[in-house]
Order: sequence, then C-alpha cells, then structure tokens
Amino acid sequence: MTAKAREVEKLVQRGLSDIRQAQSLEELERLRVTLLGRKGSLTAILRSLKDLPAEDRRQLGELANRGKQSLETALTEAGFALREAVSRQAALAEIDVTLPGRRLPRGRLHPLNRITAEICNIFLHLGFETVEGPEVELDYYNFEALNIPPDHPARDMQDTFYFNDQVLLRTHTSPMQIRIMEKRRPPVRIIAPGKVYRRDSDMTHSPMFHQVEGLLVDRQVTFANLKGVLTVFVHELFGPEVGLRFRPSYFPFTEPSAEIDIACVICRGQGCRVCKNTGWLEILGAGMVHPAVFEAVGYDPETYTGFAFGLGVERVAMLKYGIDDIRLFYENDLRFLRQF
Ligand code: DAH
Repeated sequence: MTAKAREVEKLVQRGLSDIRQAQSLEELERLRVTLLGRKGSLTAILRSLKDLPAEDRRQLGELANRGKQSLETALTEAGFALREAVSRQAALAEIDVTLPGRRLPRGRLHPLNRITAEICNIFLHLGFETVEGPEVELDYYNFEALNIPPDHPARDMQDTFYFNDQVLLRTHTSPMQIRIMEKRRPPVRIIAPGKVYRRDSDMTHSPMFHQVEGLLVDRQVTFANLKGVLTVFVHELFGPEVGLRFRPSYFPFTEPSAEIDIACVICRGQGCRVCKNTGWLEILGAGMVHPAVFEAVGYDPETYTGFAFGLGVERVAMLKYGIDDIRLFYENDLRFLRQF
C-alpha cells in the first residue's frame, strides 16, 4: 500500500470516529464540511487523482470513493440519531404553561380544635391564660382535692378508667384547678382545655371527649362576676341574641353551683327533640369555688373567693353545627370534616 493510500485510510478512519462521537448536529455539519465539502480533505484527495499515474489512480480512486461513501453513510446515520435525541429531549422539557395548575388539597382545623381555639380566644380577651395538664391523673387531683369523698358516686367503677387505686384517666379537666392553685398565689385566671375519659359510649357520649375548664380566684370575687363573665362568653360563642339562664345545681367542688342553659339553637326555645321539649340546652357547669378546695391547696377561704366552670367541647360543637352523632368527630371522614 502506498503512502498516499495509508493517508486516505487514516483520514477515513479518523473521520468515522469523529462522526460517531459528534454531540450535536452543528458539530456533524462541521465534520461534513472539513471532510467532504468543496475544500474538504477527502475532496482534495479525489481532485488530485487526475495527476496520478493510471494504475495508482485506479487503486486510490477506489479507496477514496469507498471512504467517501462510508463517511456519507455515517453522517446520515449520526444525523438521524442526533435529531431523534434532540426531539426526545424537547418533548421531555416541554411545559405547557397554559395548563391550569394542579390543586393541592388544603388542610384545615378539625371542628373540635376550631371550637377549642375559639373558646380559649374568647377567654384570652377576658384576661385568662391557657394551661394544660396530664390526662393520666392521680386520684388525689381528680377527686380527693376537689372535695369528692371516697364514696361519691362519680368514683364508681362504671364511670372511671383506673390503672390502679391511685392512678386513673382524668374524668374531667377540674384537676387542673388544683394543679394550678398548688403552684400559684392569687390572682389566678386560667382556662384549661384537654381530653377527658369516661366509661360511656352512645350517640351523645364518647369514652374520650374534650372539656374546657375555667378558674378565676382573687379577693372579693362574687357570683355576679361569674354571671358577667359567662354571659359575655356565651354571647361571644353563640351570638348576642341567644337567651341564657342560670339554674341551681350541685357539684362537690363548688358552692353554690349552677348549670347554664342556652335557648335551644334548633327550635329557638319552642321545644324540639334536641332540647327534649324544654326549649333549653345545658352547656356549662359552674359555681363558686368550695372552701374545702381552697383548703386543699393552702388558700385562705376567708381571704379569697373565686369561681370555676367547665364545658364539653363536643357538646358545644354539636349544638353550634347541628350535629346529632358524637362519633362523627372521631371517624375522620373527609366528607364530614370538609363541611367546616
Ligand atoms: N367537672 C364538671 C364535669 O365534668 C364540670 C364542672 C362543673 C366544672 C362545675 C367546674 C364547675 O369547674 O365549677 O361535669
């Protein structure tokens, strides 16, 4: 093989390898021009053939023409491959900015959390601080210090979940009264939301439910203060036009005690199934703190007076939203929860 033939061979081999490694259509076009263009290196060789002796011309001509053909084929194939890759990338990168955005479902507060926050907020504006305490409670805080003697019916095994003699699941938020008064001196103005537990379950009772406790202790606190604060509260929560009444009642930890009723939100006092034809719905227990409770925490009942109250969050939510089955709150059915 002549030196010229080797040169052609090398040129074609390098050309083929460059073509296969080309990364873009522009690069491919540059290669085509430098190899096969009018001033291309292989073109130059083909042009110079006419100056060669006949035998060399035939051999080299054949070699150069075969090389030209394989370079052209390689260019075409590489061009196809690159164009395909480009359009594949374009399809991937293509974003239709006119398409509507995908909606992310927006979360919201559970109705019970909403009502609890609403209640705490009303009392916040009345100067009450929100506090929280344990759901696993001692008998002492849940009963004893609240003037509930050992033989009181509220301690019955049917009502209370006990771990042992001393430890139980709190049946109300009232133990927070004791826990706070043990730690602080008057004036005390607190509100204590949280979970409570009782052995009870039907349409309107759940073994776990929520209460909000309130306590105000200072010098010269009277029943008039209790009426004033709770009237403002009820009007804030249910609207200023709703009727309410204070009805005498009994709780071991308050004396005197009252239950507060609002005019039935369903029938507006006319009498219906929800209010059992009385026209009234009970929503709060309250009263003046019993002297025995003050003694349990070392407050002097001659110096201090106060009032306390407790309400059931589920009950308030059921009345406010007209819900007739308490279990709906705990099933987390989105069709139910989305309505609030
Ligand atoms: N703890 C009572 C209950 O669970 C509610 C209650 C009534 C709380 C009167 C009080 C109160 O603070 O003064 O039914």
